[in-house]
Amino acid sequence: MTKKLLRALAGERIEVPPVWMMRQAGRHLPEYRETRTRAGDFLALCYTPELAAEVTLQPIRRYDLDAAILFADILLVPDALGLEVRFVEGDGPRLSTVTTRADFDALRAPDAIHDHLAPVYDTLRIVSGNLPSKAALIGFAGAPWTVASYMIAGKGTPGQGPAHALKMEQPGLFDALIAHLTDTTISYLSAQIEAGAEVVKLFDSWAGSLRGEDFENYAVEPTRRIVRALKSRHPDASVIAFPREAGKRYEGFARRTGADCIALDNSVDPVWAARHVQKDGPVQGNLAPRLLVAGGDALIRETRSILKAFKAGPHVFNLGHGITPDANPDNVHLMIDTIRKRT
Ligand code: CP3
Repeated sequence: MTKKLLRALAGERIEVPPVWMMRQAGRHLPEYRETRTRAGDFLALCYTPELAAEVTLQPIRRYDLDAAILFADILLVPDALGLEVRFVEGDGPRLSTVTTRADFDALRAPDAIHDHLAPVYDTLRIVSGNLPSKAALIGFAGAPWTVASYMIAGKGTPGQGPAHALKMEQPGLFDALIAHLTDTTISYLSAQIEAGAEVVKLFDSWAGSLRGEDFENYAVEPTRRIVRALKSRHPDASVIAFPREAGKRYEGFARRTGADCIALDNSVDPVWAARHVQKDGPVQGNLAPRLLVAGGDALIRETRSILKAFKAGPHVFNLGHGITPDANPDNVHLMIDTIRKRT
């Protein structure tokens, strides 16, 4: 096992840690914008394997990163389950909703998604055959709570109000939806691993709004079920969990879910996380994406202080959230050179 990312995820401390970036394929790259225009719209890009593979590989060519992440979106799962999903330019995603038993009953079964998602698996096969040997291939899905929040509200919502309301008002329906998404995610990620993903990441972008027992029931428990099922089918695959804005509840998340690595958002103090999260195993993170807009000494200083905080244990260098469209590629080079001690 020579790929650095896989070594770090297996628990090895590496002097110069592996690095990749959330949303590394995206609008900050002119070559992405060009391919996206060629595809027509965002979903067409996700469902055209040659083009999706091309944008997956673009950041690898430009930056020599240690991992490629599949180009797709967490909302392909609701699309495959039968909801209407659209991406409105400048306004984010719009979906038809699940708020009644009848809506839920109309969803496809967890194992009936694969025809629809076949282009995603084809993308992974193409990338897998064209990746430099040092780079690992990461697949992903949204975690059940985060995906459910979009399916219930029909769009992104501050605080996930509609999803919290459904959880209170129709707990049976809400639990059924989470269970359905958990099974679907197991089926989807298994198929991604079979198509060539060596690592899978679960994005629970809205885990932070779950309070008390809800965090246990809807962030920890679905992740635990997904990790357990994936490990029993694919013992060699690694799982990165990203319960974003979990705060103090990052502590113990790896132990309680079985995830191989915990991705930290940029609200977490690395010194705290080294003591309370990295003690249980590998961590990933957590540079603030805005530093890739600003660049300069602040970027170098913060990159070094993250490296220093995590240097005693296994660490994957990454951002605390996705790179933004206004990030400057020169600053990405500066970050990587700082990590690889070329500055
Ligand atoms: O990281 C990568 O490079 C892989 C591809 C990837 C995308 N989305 C591509 C994308 C991944 C891993 C995601 C995850 C995703 N998608 C999340 C979880 C991570 C997070 O950011 O918290 C969420 C919540 C979504 C849902 C989503 N997709 C939203 C809210 C939006 C619109 C906002 C925006 O940034 O435009 C998207 C669109 C999207 N997904 C884009 C990309 C590159 C931009 C689309 C474009 O080209 O216009």
